[in-house]
Amino acid sequence: MPGFATRAIKAASRVPPAPQPPVNVPVYLSSTFEVGSALELAELLEFQRPGHSYSRYSNPTHEALELALAELEGAEACQITGSGMAAIHAVILSLLRSGDELLIPRAVYGGVVGLSGAVLDRAGIATRAVETTDLAAVEAAIGDRTRLIWLETISNPTTAMADVAAVAAMAHARDVMVAVDNTFASPYLANPLALGADLVVHSTTKYVGGHSDITGGAALGSAELIAGVRKVVINAGGNASPMEAFLALRGLKTLALRMEHHSATALAVAGALEGAPGVHAVRYPGLTSHPQHALAVQNLRGGMAGGMLALELSGGRVAGERFLDLLHVAVHATSLGSVESLCSHPASSSHRQLGEAELAAAGLTPGMIRVSIGLEDADDLIADLASAAAGAAA
Ligand SMILES: Cc1ncc(COP(=O)(O)O)c(C=O)c1O
Repeated sequence: MPGFATRAIKAASRVPPAPQPPVNVPVYLSSTFEVGSALELAELLEFQRPGHSYSRYSNPTHEALELALAELEGAEACQITGSGMAAIHAVILSLLRSGDELLIPRAVYGGVVGLSGAVLDRAGIATRAVETTDLAAVEAAIGDRTRLIWLETISNPTTAMADVAAVAAMAHARDVMVAVDNTFASPYLANPLALGADLVVHSTTKYVGGHSDITGGAALGSAELIAGVRKVVINAGGNASPMEAFLALRGLKTLALRMEHHSATALAVAGALEGAPGVHAVRYPGLTSHPQHALAVQNLRGGMAGGMLALELSGGRVAGERFLDLLHVAVHATSLGSVESLCSHPASSSHRQLGEAELAAAGLTPGMIRVSIGLEDADDLIADLASAAAGAAA
């Protein structure tokens, strides 16, 4: 008879049969999977047969999230990652090589600028910022080396909106691909693939997860393009943890409800703060004063505009920093898309990589506050943000 240690390991590794399928997707906290033959493992590692071999490659909880996200984004395939940046990195590295050029919006999540400096430059991939809300500027910027145009459905943090359909048509005519970061809109409010984008990415850390408890990302598109993304993710080791994939799945179940509530509260807050003491301007795509309001109505579900808004405070950088000290309901923290309202000062946080000139070029003022509207009562948020804005200006 085998010894105790051997029997304990065998006994504790036995997976019970589940004749009644669980209602919820289980978390498969198993880094590796038993195979029946060398051929089976070789085929699994090459994705030539369904199943799983090793969790850096794939895992059943990953697969459940990938299938769910692909369905909700209208994509053929999905690859999840350990963060939104890992998804952005994998998409870019799967399509571009040394000598190629990437066009990015002037107003873009600062992590993309960071990726360009820390990784893309060293790989010989050039990045050029262009005003992507100006179609003529995009057309003029496309050059012989341009392979990919990066867009954000709603930009971080200025809330500028991309005309995905128009840019995609222009790009495809020049044999250039388009990838869209759909994080701010979430798959509930927008589906950029249906507008002509080739690839979509999400930071599932944000609205998909929805509770400030995970980091994760996803890339979505055709099976062929996602196979390329998967190669980068596997070889660079960017896959997600099964536990975080599980939490993202749980978040997806309430995404529609949360986005509707975020959108209604954000519209009420944006309307109440427009013209309030200490507030120079409110940027929110749901307001008629927003430069791309028509695009928001056209491209976002049911006239909703999501939970992100930008406040331009009258008192510049000093007011921006003071504002954060005066909050009682909203939390001063980076990140977004959660049940808690979160406020940050992009010039000193998400966009700290940018110098003053780059900030101005990106349409970012030093006194800008990014507000991620949570699920608290609208009246409490309005009172909190209005009093912080007035206090910061005093
Ligand atoms: C629009 C957008 N895209 C991507 C990211 C990066 O996501 P993560 O922090 O999960 O890597 C962020 C993070 O704030 C973001 O706001």
